[in-house]
Amino acid sequence: SAGLNDLAVRAGLKYFGTALRESAINSDSAYAAILSDKSEFGQLVPENGQKWDATEATQGQFTYSSGDITANTAKKNGQGLRCHTMVWYSQLPNWVSSGTWTKDSLTKVIQTHMNNVMGHYKGQCYAWDVVNEAVADDGNWRDNVFLKTFGTDYLPLSFNLAKAADPDTKLYYNDYNLEYNGAKTDRAVELVKIVQAAGAPIDGVGFQGHLIVGSTPGRSSIATVLKRFTALGLEVAFTELDIRHSSLPASSSALVTQGNDYANVVGGCLDVAGCIGVTIWSFTDKYSWIPETFSGQGDALIYDKNLGKKPAWTSISSVLAAK
Ligand code: G3I
Repeated sequence: SAGLNDLAVRAGLKYFGTALRESAINSDSAYAAILSDKSEFGQLVPENGQKWDATEATQGQFTYSSGDITANTAKKNGQGLRCHTMVWYSQLPNWVSSGTWTKDSLTKVIQTHMNNVMGHYKGQCYAWDVVNEAVADDGNWRDNVFLKTFGTDYLPLSFNLAKAADPDTKLYYNDYNLEYNGAKTDRAVELVKIVQAAGAPIDGVGFQGHLIVGSTPGRSSIATVLKRFTALGLEVAFTELDIRHSSLPASSSALVTQGNDYANVVGGCLDVAGCIGVTIWSFTDKYSWIPETFSGQGDALIYDKNLGKKPAWTSISSVLAAK
């Protein structure tokens, strides 16, 4: 049967992609074989390797060994690359998060980080998540060192500095729980407007899509919320899609519901002209961040722990083929 990326491209998307888990790619050849199949995954994103703690754990000392795993794998297989992430409160080394900064000194820190890391990957990234998770789940601005130092001025500042570091990549704001179209989504719309009003460049909004089986919005609701951002002149994408079971083991009917939920998300994207692609956050239940974070939950992906295709794989392939 045709791979998901081939079907996605035929349906008008730019790609169907996956995150790459750096610790698995060299030790698990069955995992590597599926991940490297371009007909299945047309684009890769590093799960952790390009984050600030991985690339500049010590100020001014840059390391690309982990990030390069994904960039080199994509290059070797002829796959595209998404790049993740620059200005984020998490996986941020203490020297940044606990430093004492003025606006000037923190600007230089962000600029140096971007010029080095985005410079290293220049010309390779379809898009960069420039700012990640700047809004809290209740709709307030997320408190972090950047907000403390600049107020919301760090938002346009980050996009301007990113443009200077890599002029040809798409510049994204990326966040989760935007799918529910509540207060958090309203704030993300405001974020885009703040950046645009300041005259700074922003090209896209990434919907991470960390969702829950049985609580995932329907296809038309997904399309509606995506259109709030395409109406602002931006493209949108699902960037970290996974749909977890809130209790395990999943029954066979829960696996069917999971497949329907995936189909609604992918279908909602297909229904919006500016929705350009879907990336799943690792493709197999064998490697997922969820059980570490949400104890007792998981099995959120489209391949099972033995790397067999789940009902969700078939649901996605059907919704893509039907377009
Ligand atoms: O690198 C250390 C390793 O040296 C150590 O031996 C090991 C022991 O636990 O930990 C390793 O660090 C882990 C890191 O991933 C790299 O594997 C951390 O413990 C672990 O907490 C970290 O989790 C990542 C998480 O982001 C951190 O915030 C997940 O793999 C990753 O999937 C997750 O991804 C985020 C996106 O970037 C942004 N959106 C939400 C998404 C899910 O949380």
